[in-house]
Amino acid sequence: MKSSITQGVRILATGSAVPDWCISNKILSDLIDTSDEWIFTRTGIKERRIALGDTSLIQMASLAAMQALRQASISPVEIDLIILATSSPNDLFGSASQLQAEIGANKAVAFDITAACSGFVIAIVTATQFIQNGSYRNVLVVGADVLSKWIDWSDRRTCVLFGDGAGAILLQACSSIQNNILGFQLDTNGEKFDHLNIHYNGNKDKADFLSAKSNGNYGYITMNGKEVYKFAVSKVPDSIMKCLASLNLSIEEVNWLLLHQANKRILHAVADRLNIPKYKLISNLAKYGNTSAASIPLALDEAINEGKIKQGDLFVVSGFGAGLTWGTVILKWIC
Ligand code: ACO
Repeated sequence: MKSSITQGVRILATGSAVPDWCISNKILSDLIDTSDEWIFTRTGIKERRIALGDTSLIQMASLAAMQALRQASISPVEIDLIILATSSPNDLFGSASQLQAEIGANKAVAFDITAACSGFVIAIVTATQFIQNGSYRNVLVVGADVLSKWIDWSDRRTCVLFGDGAGAILLQACSSIQNNILGFQLDTNGEKFDHLNIHYNGNKDKADFLSAKSNGNYGYITMNGKEVYKFAVSKVPDSIMKCLASLNLSIEEVNWLLLHQANKRILHAVADRLNIPKYKLISNLAKYGNTSAASIPLALDEAINEGKIKQGDLFVVSGFGAGLTWGTVILKWIC
């Protein structure tokens, strides 16, 4: 993103939603061979929310979106574009159109972005392009995931980490003086895709195909935890430093660091490498675990509601995850 911004982008409002069902580490340790102590010391997670059959991705995304719209006093029909960041859609062809219908945003174009835990950052950057080039005025960005549906609940290495949720942010075109989104940095390394994925299991051979025994399906989340950890703590600080440098900003000017809520040890290691004190870290990981594309907007909405963020605060937001993908957006809080 160029620093000579003529068309600004401002954050009008945020919203979030999580399922009612809460599973504590204690409940998990009654089901599988784990303990609250192991999970909490290795990840910082205490509990997570899980969507049961009657709570869908679309319902959570709609609740989060409607909260943001009500807060901004914007009607759904005023939305020009909806971007839904999710890797667990209701429909492989995409779920954004269902969200559009559910909230009655019938004038909006709607599409999905699939980029796992980086999805929300990439969606914000995409939305920003459409606003800056004058194509759209009101854009709704939602990050939502129900990874609980893709977890092997007998695999203690992965099932303790994830939870379900949704978060929304409403963006609007504004003058350059009111601009909230200062710059971004996005990266991908597809050579390491195998460290974190949900494999597609296709038809094995022609006979299989012709007998229609299999339509193809996906496996469970698999992860090389150590490699993902190393990737996150090396690449995320680099991304943040590059982004700050491109805007002539220094680490000392950063008021808040909001990272994808993957794991407390990753959050602390990134803050340490950047020399950012822990009180500047925003985290709600203990309550929700890793909610993938929802984690950043969920934590942002909570921080705003708690009144943490003040006028003029500089916000560094970074997502990272499967792909492998990672990215940073720098925001200035101007209401
Ligand atoms: N409960 C109890 N013991 C466990 C559990 C569990 N839930 N999971 C693994 N163990 C055991 C293992 O079996 C192993 O036992 P062994 O030594 O007898 O074989 C031991 O604990 C150590 O296992 P490791 O896999 O080496 O555990 P590690 O110290 O690497 O911690 C963790 C695992 C927390 C996942 C770590 O690798 C990590 O932080 N990785 C970062 C990845 C991450 O956060 N991913 C989130 C999703 S990706 C994203 O959002 C970007």
